[in-house]
Amino acid sequence: MLVASLPGDGIGPEVTRQALRVLDALGLEGLTVEEAPIGGAAYRASGHPLPDETLDLARRADAILFGAVGDPDCDDLERHLRPEQAILGIRKALGLFANLRPANLFPELADASALRPEIARDIDVMIVRELTGDVYFGDKGMRTTEAGLREGYDLMSYDEAEIARIARTGFETARARDGKLCSVDKANVLETSQLWRDVVTEVAADYANVELSHLYVDNAAMQLVRDPGQFDTIVTGNLFGDILSDLASMCAGSIGMLPSASLDKDGKGLYEPIHGSAPDIAGQGKANPLATILSAGMMLRYSLDQAEAADRIEAAVGRALAGGLRTADLGGSATTVEAADAVIAAL
Ligand code: IPM
Ligand code: MG
Repeated sequence: MLVASLPGDGIGPEVTRQALRVLDALGLEGLTVEEAPIGGAAYRASGHPLPDETLDLARRADAILFGAVGDPDCDDLERHLRPEQAILGIRKALGLFANLRPANLFPELADASALRPEIARDIDVMIVRELTGDVYFGDKGMRTTEAGLREGYDLMSYDEAEIARIARTGFETARARDGKLCSVDKANVLETSQLWRDVVTEVAADYANVELSHLYVDNAAMQLVRDPGQFDTIVTGNLFGDILSDLASMCAGSIGMLPSASLDKDGKGLYEPIHGSAPDIAGQGKANPLATILSAGMMLRYSLDQAEAADRIEAAVGRALAGGLRTADLGGSATTVEAADAVIAAL
């Protein structure tokens, strides 16, 4: 089993290092890790945020553990050279269309949620976000209008095959959970969303045992804060999923807690915390590594066929939190290394 480690920028290397320590502590046989640069770090080393060798390693690997990309010093580069293009490029190149972002509250963290404890208590939602289409990948650019004004544009589009494919992931995910799927769109305004809603409804015919509902994205954001416990599985497009998953993370305690899996059609995956590179705290040793540690857990479960080891990681994180572990984002003062130490001790 080959794992590609792509630490990236900002706090990415700090948190990835700790997740690899936890993997190591599991003592799994036959697991090798190879590392490659990505994002701003790769740009500085070789002039491109996603070097060929890095993409090669990602292709060769059985799974990819990814830190974060994003670097304010790169914000003035042409768009195709910016760090963010590396993660978008790897998702596209590897066909990682299905992004699973679970937001559930560790009971020990009820007081860390941005919501009142009695509201936060019930949050256990899986956001299934489409990851290789939408306004992220449509025709985009800058142009000048007839009136001489600068105009930016980004085309939003989905074809029906793209929608049906992620809808199936949504239905199958819901079926393995509580059997409730909420599809989120903006069909009252967007044609893309009208097709989304029609196709999701058509696919529903194959999943009689899943209860399907639809919400507009603005309402979904409101409902997630008002009563997150009503949601089981959410399926949505790339842009809405990006926004709703950050929102859900704060309902579930902290953005420093949420892992994700990005899967291709055969279950090969890239695993990353949903947070970014957090340049404001990079290099200070205080980033919360739990999202990346939990991402390594998802990697064991979804790509490496090691469900038992994944269970062990999740249980150890729970025990470490129960034992009082709190990094700064959770209102405590544990360092990145101490947080990983606590998880390893709990293993
Ligand atoms: C995420 C991030 C990325 C995204 C950025 C870094 C391109 O916000 O994974 O949620 O928008 O998909
Ligand atoms: Mg995001």
